Amino acid sequence: MLKIIRYNTLVILSVLFLFSCKTEKHQFKNSASKAEIADKAMIVSARSEASRIGAEIMKKGGNAFDAMVATEMALAVSYPFAGNLGGGGFMVYRTADGEVGTLDYREKAPLASSKNMYLDENGEVISEKSTMGALASGVPGTIAGIFKVHKKFGSLPIQELLKPVIALAEKGIVVTQKQQDRLQKYRDVLMQVNEDTILFTKSYKAGDTLKNKALANTLRRIATNGRSEFYGGETGKILLNFLQERGGIITEQDLLKYDAKWRDPVQVQYKDYQIISMPPPSSGGIVLAQILKMIEPYPLNEYAHNSAKYIQVLTEAERRAYADRSFYLGDSDFYEVPQDSLLDSNYLEAKMANFSFEQATSSSAINHGELSNFYESNETTHYSIVDAEGNAVSVTTTLNGAYGSKLYIPELGFFMNNEMNDFSLKPGVPNMFGLIGAEANAIAPEKRMLSSMTPTIIEKDNKLWMVVGSPGGSTIITSVLQTFLNVAEFDLNMQEAVSAKRFHHQWLPDEIMMEPAGFEEKALEELQQKGYKINQSESRIIGKVDAIRVLPNGKLEGGADPRGDDTAVGF
Ligand code: DON
Repeated sequence: MLKIIRYNTLVILSVLFLFSCKTEKHQFKNSASKAEIADKAMIVSARSEASRIGAEIMKKGGNAFDAMVATEMALAVSYPFAGNLGGGGFMVYRTADGEVGTLDYREKAPLASSKNMYLDENGEVISEKSTMGALASGVPGTIAGIFKVHKKFGSLPIQELLKPVIALAEKGIVVTQKQQDRLQKYRDVLMQVNEDTILFTKSYKAGDTLKNKALANTLRRIATNGRSEFYGGETGKILLNFLQERGGIITEQDLLKYDAKWRDPVQVQYKDYQIISMPPPSSGGIVLAQILKMIEPYPLNEYAHNSAKYIQVLTEAERRAYADRSFYLGDSDFYEVPQDSLLDSNYLEAKMANFSFEQATSSSAINHGELSNFYESNETTHYSIVDAEGNAVSVTTTLNGAYGSKLYIPELGFFMNNEMNDFSLKPGVPNMFGLIGAEANAIAPEKRMLSSMTPTIIEKDNKLWMVVGSPGGSTIITSVLQTFLNVAEFDLNMQEAVSAKRFHHQWLPDEIMMEPAGFEEKALEELQQKGYKINQSESRIIGKVDAIRVLPNGKLEGGADPRGDDTAVGF
């Protein structure tokens, strides 16, 4: 029997953190439906500055991988909420000649970490230890990631790629309304964790310019000295001193040993489409593939979009796939993930065998467990790129929570991640996304924490068809799923598919989380009659998808999520 987590026993900081994790108010127009169209190349990211820099690099003759390097860093400057040097991420790519692969630059647990490091003497989780401050961070992977990409695929010198980014940090970004709101919302907790004011605790108003000279200097040193500047040079030393003075356990050895890894993607066929997505340490590819295989036999396009029947089929498949996630998935370098068995069609067919349209399956019939609420949010960031040659890059990068561990290194100009919370801190106890885990995702030195990030590329008739991904913790996978289905099954254009309302089920808690306003009352009533619990109690957004589709005429169609400041730039 799983334990019910008792949030009321957590210390005040933890409560503050959880509040800080709740989603932003739902504030996007329902009407965003006109897709940006480009002839040759396109990039869609969380900030217009980052999209513009990526597009400029491609205009200058750089490829999608060059654009990835510049965009990843431009997001660290313009979107410090999630863009980062102190975090990690995943890239899925498909080259113009059809070669596919993935890069894992996920953070790793420090060498001095241990399985029970976030438990108190009674064996209870001290949750703020894994979410805030120096102990919450895994060893960052982002700089290793961009250099690995550049070495294999880059065509322009790194200095040229970082030049516009350094200029952006120096000249400053223009604060948007959403950014003003976020900074205001997190100001107190940022002050608390940093025990001081930092660049981001000033009172910014929309339209203000925010310059980050320290980050410009860090990037300049990285441009000059390369990857080792971060994993051994001055930047690395400043980072280590800063963390160690605050109780962190990351050492020089950790930085020296860190490396990003090329991994084979998870691939699955769904009707005419080939889905190419992220393998462990992300759960994204496997869970997405499981859901797709479970729903494939149902004639989804005969049900109305977001009708009760459609929601039911997806929910039941999601429930079953997320139950597997919590038991079987973890870093495959440390734990033998039974990927083939999990994707076996007989196995998946058998899993759906007890589903009936008459009545909701209870999650307790799938497995035991009682859980508290989960806290979904959109603090990761995804960007999609297609260049003029047809190379495609799908990247999701993260600090985990908003501004990660909240710990900001003033001398370096960036925040550190709180990715350690993505481990299963104790079997059966939910993390900040309500996800529970088992031995497969227990902490071990150098292990990577299980992720839900699902950067994905989709082929149709062996040709590049879509590049898609999202932030949103546990809701990432279902956001990617619905965006794909919106186009493949319901013929929405890329922008409509991204803008459409989303819902989510993750086995536990046993409820369908739904974005408010936009689902038909009739569908909701029907679902409730069949025993589904609907959670629409709060204004929430689910995912923040940035995607590109290749149209039959070869043009590129962008979908930038109106839930954020996301922007498609093409030429
Ligand atoms: O890797 C993961 O699954 C999480 N660290 C992602 C966090 C995220 O998406 C935050 N935003 N909601």
